[in-house]
Amino acid sequence: MTYTRQCHPSARQDLLRGPSQANNAQTLENPHCLRKGAPPFMGLRYLTTKEQFHEFLEAKGQEKPSQDSEAVDPAGNDLAEPEAKRIRLEDGQTEDGQAEEAAEPGEQLQAQKRARGQNKCRPHVKPTHYDKNKLCPSLVQESAAKCFYGDRCRFLHDVGHYLETKPADLGPSCVLFETFGRCPYGVTCRFAGAHLGPEGQNLVREGLVQAPPVRNGLDKALQQQLRKRKIHFKHAEQALRQLSRGPLPGPTPEATVPEGREAEGAPGQDNCDSQLAPQEPDTVGPPSGPLRTFGPLTDEDVVRLRPREKRRLDISGKLYLAPLTTCGNLPFRRICKRFGADVTCGEMAVCTNLLQGQTSEWALLKRHPCEDIFGVQLEGAFPDTMTKCAELLNRTIEVDFVDINVGCPIDLVFKKGGGCALMNRLAKFQQIVRGMNQVLDVPLTVKLRTGVQERVNLAHRLLPDLRDWGAALVTLHGRSREQRYTKLADWQYIEQCVAAASPMPLFGNGDILSYEDANRALQTGVAGVMIARGALLKPWLFTEIKEQRHWDISSSERLDILRDFTHYGLEHWGSDTQGVEKTRRFLLEWLSFLCRYVPLGLLERLPQRINERPPYYLGRNYLETLMASQKAADWIRISEMLLGPVPPNFVFLPKHKANAYK
Ligand SMILES: Cc1cc2nc3c(=O)[nH]c(=O)nc-3n(C[C@H](O)[C@H](O)[C@H](O)COP(=O)(O)O)c2cc1C
Ligand SMILES: [Zn+2]
Ligand SMILES: [Zn+2]
Repeated sequence: MTYTRQCHPSARQDLLRGPSQANNAQTLENPHCLRKGAPPFMGLRYLTTKEQFHEFLEAKGQEKPSQDSEAVDPAGNDLAEPEAKRIRLEDGQTEDGQAEEAAEPGEQLQAQKRARGQNKCRPHVKPTHYDKNKLCPSLVQESAAKCFYGDRCRFLHDVGHYLETKPADLGPSCVLFETFGRCPYGVTCRFAGAHLGPEGQNLVREGLVQAPPVRNGLDKALQQQLRKRKIHFKHAEQALRQLSRGPLPGPTPEATVPEGREAEGAPGQDNCDSQLAPQEPDTVGPPSGPLRTFGPLTDEDVVRLRPREKRRLDISGKLYLAPLTTCGNLPFRRICKRFGADVTCGEMAVCTNLLQGQTSEWALLKRHPCEDIFGVQLEGAFPDTMTKCAELLNRTIEVDFVDINVGCPIDLVFKKGGGCALMNRLAKFQQIVRGMNQVLDVPLTVKLRTGVQERVNLAHRLLPDLRDWGAALVTLHGRSREQRYTKLADWQYIEQCVAAASPMPLFGNGDILSYEDANRALQTGVAGVMIARGALLKPWLFTEIKEQRHWDISSSERLDILRDFTHYGLEHWGSDTQGVEKTRRFLLEWLSFLCRYVPLGLLERLPQRINERPPYYLGRNYLETLMASQKAADWIRISEMLLGPVPPNFVFLPKHKANAYK
């Protein structure tokens, strides 16, 4: 058994002790914990077997049409109390700290192997797949001009014909129309019945509300310039030249701001001024040859020494929602903000893709107005691309900080020398941090792991360097690359690193799922905590931490949260078929984590711990049980309650393999 069952109060200190000692504590100090008399994970009356669990869901699911959420009585305890069954305790911890389904002991190793990493052979469904008969975009907006493509346009131009083949509406009301008084998707909206007039015209309601602007979009002109490689990175090149000559002595990097920069004000307005100008031979940009020097300093160095404050980042004591690829999308972050997350960060973006103007990569930088302390996270392996990317973003988007992901364990990134491989490439790492820091007006932060290998901690040695190179803050995930999620995060090591980083603030990250976990984490002296899977399992965790309480949230309240997510999703990705299906996919990715939450009211021993695999149980009502299912088919059913039936031939395999329960 690889996961800890903490039964004795002293075992509660496990989080601080680190993984190996925690395991010892469990097996040596409290051997009885693993035996019969140990306090059970949850009330025996809720326990069931895998077979009964799925039989129950199937039988009930047939009784109650899954599309009608009202048919599920969230409050009604219509459930005959299940017979108490033995808990089968299985191990098989995987990448995301999830326990892979492995019925037979012999299958366990295999299952574990299979579960490592991501699902690489996921079916790729093109967004257009769903809509064969697409209406020409020129007809979606009433005010739109004639179709630019004329006869060559492959879309439908006859609205009547389009409506004949359009699938039925997914619901009676359109969240965009309800919220803003006008739905920009018009007839293509999958809830269009709510806002189409008798002649099929798109209705507009009195008292139209402006949709709050989502910031950090990619300007079309800039995209063109990026694609044609017409952007000249004046400041990045300057910084890189300087770095290749060796770092300058002088003021701390926090105080150095590149020449001609405004320390205040929104940088997002002008995309192509002289700082980041389209390259026009002879006119813009510095001479490409070596710079004239006066002794050790250049002209430009002198300008740099002007004491101008870099913007500061003061987030000590704040709750930081971790950057989460796929799951930490803008609609999900809105949910977490509502529950009390203070700091949010975009999903990791790849510098080279941003520099090429890729739309999908730029989408990762988008910021909702509710995200008042917001950063973006970048990945890259080379000082050149990363510094250029930093300059590009400095001029084009509005953020409070830029983070470098030096914790990324993914093979693809690691093999190129990026992610946590940088922890072993000190010279490049230094150039990246110094270079980026020099061209950014906002603070630069770094996310680290303990190291690459399990027993070779590197972070404590890097922290003083990072502080000297000008990093404003570091977040440390208390696990190595090799370790992935197989063991508890090493908070004892994080504590050691707090001292090594001082006075630079260090945020701690790993395994926080309750306010007690957060309190223990804060006792290590970290400036604050970052929360990842905890937020996916229970976004209300932020409230629990702020209010220092446990929240026995009901299944209907949880469904309401999911409904809000779909509303935010439709707002963000659109309410046409493509937007609905995108919203559904991201909901399903989230559900693959959410199912691991065990309702508080069922627990015999508080609080739930992130590394414990819950046994099969029946919830206090049908919906609670359905939400505990680890089957993709059941997640799809939940999605159908909120977004209507899935399109024909729908397949879903979660991105994170560890969630692919069969
Ligand atoms: C689904 C998922 C996606 C993640 N994506 C990122 C990412 O884009 N950038 C990053 O630095 N870490 C990423 N992580 C790691 C988390 O930010 C965090 O460091 C790690 O999960 C440990 O925290 P936890 O124990 O609170 O989950 C991801 C983790 C998960 C589970
Ligand atoms: Zn057309
Ligand atoms: Zn609509």
